[in-house]
Amino acid sequence: MIEKEWIEQGFIDEPISVNTDVKAEIKRMCKEKNAVIMAHYYTYPKVQDLADFVGDSLALAQKAANTDADIIVMCGVHFMGETNKILCPDKTILVPDLNASCSLAESCPTDSFEQFIKDHSDHTVISYVNTTAATKTLSDIVVTSSNACQIVESFPKDTKIIFGPDKNLGGYINRITGRNMLLWDGACHVHERFSVEGIKQLKQQYPNAKVLAHPECTSQVAELADKIGSTAALLKFSINDKAQEFVVVTEAGILHEMQRQAPQKTFIPAPSIEEPYACNECNHMKLITMRKLYNCIKYEWPTIEIRSEIAEKAVRPINRMLEISKKLGL
Ligand code: 13P
Ligand code: SF4
Repeated sequence: MIEKEWIEQGFIDEPISVNTDVKAEIKRMCKEKNAVIMAHYYTYPKVQDLADFVGDSLALAQKAANTDADIIVMCGVHFMGETNKILCPDKTILVPDLNASCSLAESCPTDSFEQFIKDHSDHTVISYVNTTAATKTLSDIVVTSSNACQIVESFPKDTKIIFGPDKNLGGYINRITGRNMLLWDGACHVHERFSVEGIKQLKQQYPNAKVLAHPECTSQVAELADKIGSTAALLKFSINDKAQEFVVVTEAGILHEMQRQAPQKTFIPAPSIEEPYACNECNHMKLITMRKLYNCIKYEWPTIEIRSEIAEKAVRPINRMLEISKKLGL
């Protein structure tokens, strides 16, 4: 039975017996329940290692749209679980901790965004996938960092566009595509905190290292980068490029997969402003622990629920993104 206390806190923290082989038991329960575990690159290495599929935001949405599983366990943040639920309304979508939010989604309250759109009613609305389901209902199309530039470019040059919520990603797209999209004033608290000085110092310390940065970083950080891209694009670049050392300017969880796929290379996490010698971690992604993962599969809770009138509207801009991505071979 789901206890009242768990509902209030948004996750299950029931202790697991020391005699339990947690990984084996998770695998066994998944098989029994026909559940699939998906994880974002920013989650803990242990979680990534257990997942059936690890990917970036686009790949996770594409995978969800095509899975035969009855249950999707989304090890990531709330909006990722919502995207899965919107795409698979008949499946059970579990997110091990409902408090796993996203500063970008939070920076774009639906009411204020709606007013902003009303104030510019001749604009097409393009939203980053890092938004709530309710905010997606206001959007003409959704993008991820993997396909944002190409999707913006698929609109005629003279299209007036609102882009939200990430002003850093929006600014990057404007610079690459030569557009002048109107930007919502949101940002990711992790990517905005990378230290320009800290990265410059690392470049001096590792003169042969290439700098890899996520487009959610500030323009000052982007100027220092040899490669800018989504987590999946940065991963691919780090494996295929000849360089042996990389300064990684995105959430440090991605280093696990980089190191796994290129064990002979050196990956250095970029420091944040507050803690010059520490790496940036997303406190939301790091809410997904093995214990919560185990319990959520055991009790099939917490589930993601979305009102049907919201889901029915939000599915359109997401499907539009998936269709264009498919056409573009992304
Ligand atoms: P991608 O997974 O698209 O690289 O985005 C990173 C991110 O911030 C996810 O929340
Ligand atoms: Fe959101 Fe930033 Fe965390 Fe990604 S890293 S989930 S954008 S808060």
